[in-house]
Amino acid sequence: MYDLRKITDNITWVGACDRRIRIFEGTYPIEDGMNYNSYLIADEKTVLVDTVDKAVANNFFENISAALNGRSLDYLIVQHMEPDHSATLGELVLRYPDTKIVVNQKTMGMISRFFGFDIESRAVVVGEGDTLDIGSRKLTFVMAPMVHWPEVMLTYDPVDKVLFSADAFGNFGAIDGSVFADSLDFEGEFLPEARRYYTNIVGKYGAQVQMALKKAAALDIKYLCPLHGLVWRKDLDKILGVYDKWSRYEAEEKGVAVLYGSVYGNSANCAQILAGKISDKGLPVKVLDMNVKHFSHAVAMAFKYDRIVIVTPTVNAEILVSMDTVVRALAGHNVQNKKIAVIDNGTWASVAGKSVREILGGLKGTTIIEEGLTIASSLKEGDLSVLDRIAEEITA
Ligand code: FEO
Repeated sequence: MYDLRKITDNITWVGACDRRIRIFEGTYPIEDGMNYNSYLIADEKTVLVDTVDKAVANNFFENISAALNGRSLDYLIVQHMEPDHSATLGELVLRYPDTKIVVNQKTMGMISRFFGFDIESRAVVVGEGDTLDIGSRKLTFVMAPMVHWPEVMLTYDPVDKVLFSADAFGNFGAIDGSVFADSLDFEGEFLPEARRYYTNIVGKYGAQVQMALKKAAALDIKYLCPLHGLVWRKDLDKILGVYDKWSRYEAEEKGVAVLYGSVYGNSANCAQILAGKISDKGLPVKVLDMNVKHFSHAVAMAFKYDRIVIVTPTVNAEILVSMDTVVRALAGHNVQNKKIAVIDNGTWASVAGKSVREILGGLKGTTIIEEGLTIASSLKEGDLSVLDRIAEEITA
C-alpha cells in the first residue's frame, strides 16, 4: 500500500525506508535503517525529484502511482546519480516511457555508464541557474559538485520556497513517523547520526559544501528537502549552523576524542586512565575502542571535538590494523584544526607512534603535542606522570 506525506499543498513525499539495511554504501554500519526521499511536485506539469534505492522499489512505485492519481509523469529531475538514489531509474523509464529526464551534462554521462537505455532522446540538459517552467513555478537548478559526487545539483522551488538539497542535510536512520525534523529532539536524537552521515559521506569536501552553502544563503528557503533523513521546515539555522562548522573544519565544541586499539588490554588501560585525567581537567571526553567500533564513529568524533588522542600498539612493525584504518580515515576525510596526542605500545621496537605522527602531522591547522609516550607492554608507575603531562598539554 502507498505511503504519502504532504510537504506542501503541491509537494508530496513519495520516498521509502529500508529498516533491514545493515551496511550503507557497502561501508557504514546502520543501526536504525535508512531513508530514501523522493518528492513529487504537482503543478501544470508533474515533476519527480530523484528516485530511490532498489531495496525500496516496490513501495516507491506504489507511491508515485498514488501521488500522480492518474496524471502522467512529465519530468524526472536526477540531482544525484549515485545508485542509492538512482538504482530505480531504469525501471522508472520502463514504467513511464514518455517522462523527460532533467540532468546536467555530467549526470547524462553517468547515466550512460550505469544504464543501457537511451538517455539523450529523453534528456533536458540544464546548467547553473537554468530554470524549468512547470506552470505556476519555475524550478531553478543550482550546481553543487562534490556534495557528494561531481554531478550533484540542487533544485529550488521559488513558490513554496523549497530547496531540494540532494545528499546535503541528510542523516542515517529511517524516519519514525513524521518526515519533519521538528518532530524530534535535534541534539539528542538527530545530531549524532547526522554528524556521522555528513562527516563520513561528504566530510572530505568542506570547500565544496561551503560553496553550496553560499549559494543556498542567497535563496529564500522555507523547506530543506534532502534525499535522506528528515525534511526541515522550522529552525533551519540548526542544521545550516552545524553544516557550516563541519565544512569549515571547525569543532562543535572543546573536547577530546580518545581513540584506541588494544590487543591485550594494556593500551585500553592507558586510554582509560588518560581519559580520566583529561576529564578531571574539565573537558568532555569520548573514549572509543576502535577494535569494536566502526571507523565512521571515530571520524564523527574527530569532527565534533577539537582534540584527539591516539593510543595504538605496534603489530608487525606497523600501526595496529584497526587504528591504522582510523588514522588513515581521519586523514582521508580531511580532518583539520586539531590538537593531537599520540601514545604507542610495544614489547619490542615500537614504531606505531612514529607512523601515526607521519600520517596526521601533515593535516592542515593541526598540532601534534610534543609530549608522547611509548608504553613498554604495560603502564608502569613512572608512566603516570607522563600521562599527567599529556593531559595537561592536550587540555591547555
Ligand atoms: Fe545518498 Fe551520495 O548518495
